[in-house]
Amino acid sequence: MKTKVLKVDEDNIDREIIKQASEIIKNGGLVSFPTETVYGLGANGLDSDATSKIFEAKGRPQDNPLILHISSEDELKELVREISDDARKCMDAFWPGPLTIIFNRSEIVPDSVTAGLDTVAIRMPSNKIALEIIRESKKPIAAPSANTSGKPSPTAAEHVYKDLDGKLELIVDGGRTGIGLESTVIDLTEDVPTILRPGGVTYEDLSKVLGRVEIDKSIINFTENIVPKSPGQKYKHYAPNSEMYIFKGEFKSVVDRINEIAIEKTQNGKKVGIMCTDESLDKYKAGLIYSMGSREDEDSIAHNLFHILREMDRENVDIILSESVDFSEMGLAIMNRMIKAAGGKIEQL
Ligand code: TXA
Ligand code: MG
Repeated sequence: MKTKVLKVDEDNIDREIIKQASEIIKNGGLVSFPTETVYGLGANGLDSDATSKIFEAKGRPQDNPLILHISSEDELKELVREISDDARKCMDAFWPGPLTIIFNRSEIVPDSVTAGLDTVAIRMPSNKIALEIIRESKKPIAAPSANTSGKPSPTAAEHVYKDLDGKLELIVDGGRTGIGLESTVIDLTEDVPTILRPGGVTYEDLSKVLGRVEIDKSIINFTENIVPKSPGQKYKHYAPNSEMYIFKGEFKSVVDRINEIAIEKTQNGKKVGIMCTDESLDKYKAGLIYSMGSREDEDSIAHNLFHILREMDRENVDIILSESVDFSEMGLAIMNRMIKAAGGKIEQL
């Protein structure tokens, strides 16, 4: 299959391209489109044959359910059994936006979307291109991140092309995504609202709206073997090709330790990649040095994280050494992705 790439400006949307994209969706094909978080790989969410193509294209395990994307609240009713008070509060506060809510599913949601679970994940993105494609398709769009399973999620159309060229009909290129990490996933089907995946809507944001909120233990405890409640969280994820190590502790100790390893590895002929922050950019003495963003603005770090992991692959580095951030606010989502990318290799200094 030949994969087409068409550019669309979010502030001046070309209706012809939206129509092309939704024709493909209606005909059971695959289209990648930008959302405010990462690029999605979309198919008609009510058509099992179409959604099975998503699993095939990504090499995604069959037991990992998909998120349904909607463009208005009217589209929600037929997909869920009820809308609880907590769900109503979350929708009012955070939709459209980077929050995926787990509801009890209705009969019309295919098993292929929920991986046989009795629940369904739903989100209303805020990206205007995404909203227009959903609206024009007149169907909920099932869309995981548009990467090969296990790789960092795509934050630019080039990333989608690199992973999936020939496996989908169209990539709608809307430029780099804003947030850069996938949506927060919150389960509202249990007694206490539980965050299954941290993201752009933070624990602190959700607590203000809902009161008591729990965080699934597997997100913050990576030393013990806890089975995550969200099927997707148990797989190796976001992994660059090379070994990655994270360093946590007092700023100067972290810089010194990374320098020590970078110098030694470089002397031994290895290509070292360093992931630092604006505040430490001029402190490193060896390696290929990338700033993820400013410690004063963790959103900038989230925005750049996956992009830099992919740059590291492009540069064919042998080892990646990364600074870390605190586990609060956006930092929780950043550290969750980083630790997975590093396969849990974090050194406390
Ligand atoms: O920002 C995002 O959410 C992006 C964009 C494209 O919308 N999508 C995305 O989809 O990240 P995906 O498939 O890569 O991640 C969906 C996550 C997985 O961890 C999956 O296991 C979880 O949501 N999930 C889906 N349905 C679920 C359910 N019924 N119960 C628990 N977790 C569920
Ligand atoms: Mg994904």
